[in-house]
Amino acid sequence: MASLTSTSRTLLRALPRTSLSSLPVRALSTSSSKCGPGAADTSSFDSPFRGFGGSKTAKIPDFSHYKSNKSQTSNQMFQYFMVGTMGALTAAGAKNTVQDFLVNMSASADVLAMAKVEVDLSAIPEGKNVIIKWRGKPVFIRHRTPDEIKEAESVKVESLRDPQKDEDRVKKPEWLVMIGVCTHLGCVPIGEAGDFGGWFCPCHGSHYDISGRIRKGPAPLNLEIPEYDFPEETSLVIG
Ligand code: FES
Repeated sequence: MASLTSTSRTLLRALPRTSLSSLPVRALSTSSSKCGPGAADTSSFDSPFRGFGGSKTAKIPDFSHYKSNKSQTSNQMFQYFMVGTMGALTAAGAKNTVQDFLVNMSASADVLAMAKVEVDLSAIPEGKNVIIKWRGKPVFIRHRTPDEIKEAESVKVESLRDPQKDEDRVKKPEWLVMIGVCTHLGCVPIGEAGDFGGWFCPCHGSHYDISGRIRKGPAPLNLEIPEYDFPEETSLVIG
């Protein structure tokens, strides 16, 4: 291969310069041989982007057939009517969608029924406790005796860990209604037990008095009072 290359070089050197210049040379080009305005006119391809500015190949569609013959005011009224109608329909659809979503998310009738519990107070004798279940939690109902009421009211509020008067914890002095969940870690205290004659939580030793106020032990707060009402003299509704 190397010898072939050296032979061709020797032959080229041997040729006179005049003979090289007289050899026909063909130049290669990657550009098209047809270009320019004249070439465009002879093209058979109707490009929508070619020929703007007076070229004969420009083909602009005729929209006059679709043009409205009415006045501008009439056309505007029609446009406003269509926009207003579409807006009203969209707003109505959006309102119905949101309403359906909210109705779907709200509590069902059986859940609402569970939200309130009615208790017949005539069945609870004086000096007795009753525990009912409300929203998955125990609720203590205590029918207090006059002595218990007097004892609860005589406590010095300033000495309490969670200062609260007895009158602020009851709607009727003889009826004490509380959520039966210890405010320490959530155990259920035992009634008629403890050092203060109220409730005692055996989990870690919290003592509550006859008004459900924390008096001793690790619990930080009094027993919680739920929402309740007395719609009738012997009826209690919790929730
Ligand atoms: S949970 Fe009642 S004392 Fe700890």
